[in-house]
Amino acid sequence: TTPVVNDQLARPLQDLRISIMDRCNFRCTYCMPKEIFGDDHVFLPEEELLSFEEITRAAEQFAALGVKKIRLTGGEPLLRKDVPTLIASLTNIDGIEDIALTTNAVMLPKQAKPLYEAGLERVNVSLDALDTEVFQEMSGRKTKPDAVLSGIDAATEAGLGVKVNMVVRKGVNDQEVIPMARYCKEKGLTLRFIEFMDVGQTNGWDFSQVVSKKELHERVSQIAPLEALEPNYFGEVASRYRYVNSDVEIGFISSVTETFCSSCTRARLSADGKLFTCLFSETGSDLRTIMRNGATDARIREWISAIWEKREDRYSELRTEESARHRKKIEMSYIGG
Ligand code: GTP
Ligand code: 5AD
Ligand code: SF4
Ligand code: SF4
Repeated sequence: TTPVVNDQLARPLQDLRISIMDRCNFRCTYCMPKEIFGDDHVFLPEEELLSFEEITRAAEQFAALGVKKIRLTGGEPLLRKDVPTLIASLTNIDGIEDIALTTNAVMLPKQAKPLYEAGLERVNVSLDALDTEVFQEMSGRKTKPDAVLSGIDAATEAGLGVKVNMVVRKGVNDQEVIPMARYCKEKGLTLRFIEFMDVGQTNGWDFSQVVSKKELHERVSQIAPLEALEPNYFGEVASRYRYVNSDVEIGFISSVTETFCSSCTRARLSADGKLFTCLFSETGSDLRTIMRNGATDARIREWISAIWEKREDRYSELRTEESARHRKKIEMSYIGG
């Protein structure tokens, strides 16, 4: 049996979120605002990215320490070449029960089928509006929402499970809450509303722009009453509901108003191989250098365990306007959300 590695708050290491690409074809205002991530922005050069072999080797060590679930993120993970090859090698790892991918779906019409054939079972797709203007304002590019909707359809047709993530920013896209809920209900897609968070250094966050889970729940209940469901797994980020008299689910990711740090079992690996123990960490620990300097697998596992055992992060529980504004935080596009 696999060992359980617990942190200082008795949280086991169970999930690994791996960013495989720091670039993105979108410039969402809350994640990679254009003013900061402009044409002259310097992204990681290829040799700094973990190779597929390195990612697989790292994932094997995490699995040996109790990780059951892997999620690939970015930036936009599908901007990396040959992601199906990586999926195929990750599906071979003992102990990994779930592999998923978070994407903006624009590349899915081309890639859904090969991803599914490589062993991927599900994707979470970010979509913040159906209205073209609102969508473009949120995503910072001229791409039309149809490109995302086609990606979702391609994923469903290929056999992938699809959940939709909508970040809600008051006064910017919150008028889209009901249209998005109706659309997803019609299509049988699980929609999760995400409270706007103060990630990174640059997204101009303050409390007044957050639409709370409570308010979102009230609004969506106009479509049909909601009944609460049990979590799918320990530490699930979204709280789950179902429309009464239907199979369609809806979720709320209330990282601001109902924090979930006490069950946070997630480690994060950046595209250049730094290990972060919280989405709001100031610094990561350099796994890539250790691997490239020839550490044995056993040494890598000791190193990971030692970091996890020291962990006491619970940023969202401690968040204040002050910390939101002044703490030095890592960018979401680098660490993958
Ligand atoms: P499932 O496996 O489908 O339950 O995925 P997930 O909800 O864990 O992953 P996804 O990438 O779809 O994330 C949805 C949202 O939850 C994103 O906005 C994430 O940044 C946010 N999120 C995920 N994990 C954490 C976390 O540990 N802390 C905080 N504050 N937010 C998180
Ligand atoms: N607040 C909440 N969610 C965010 N995401 C990116 N930036 C933020 C933010 N500031 C979401 C994306 C994607 C997921 C991985 O993280 O929309 O669905
Ligand atoms: Fe790209 Fe996703 Fe960030 Fe938007 S939220 S800029 S799609 S990585
Ligand atoms: Fe986990 Fe940090 Fe998010 Fe809390 S704020 S749930 S500790 S990643």
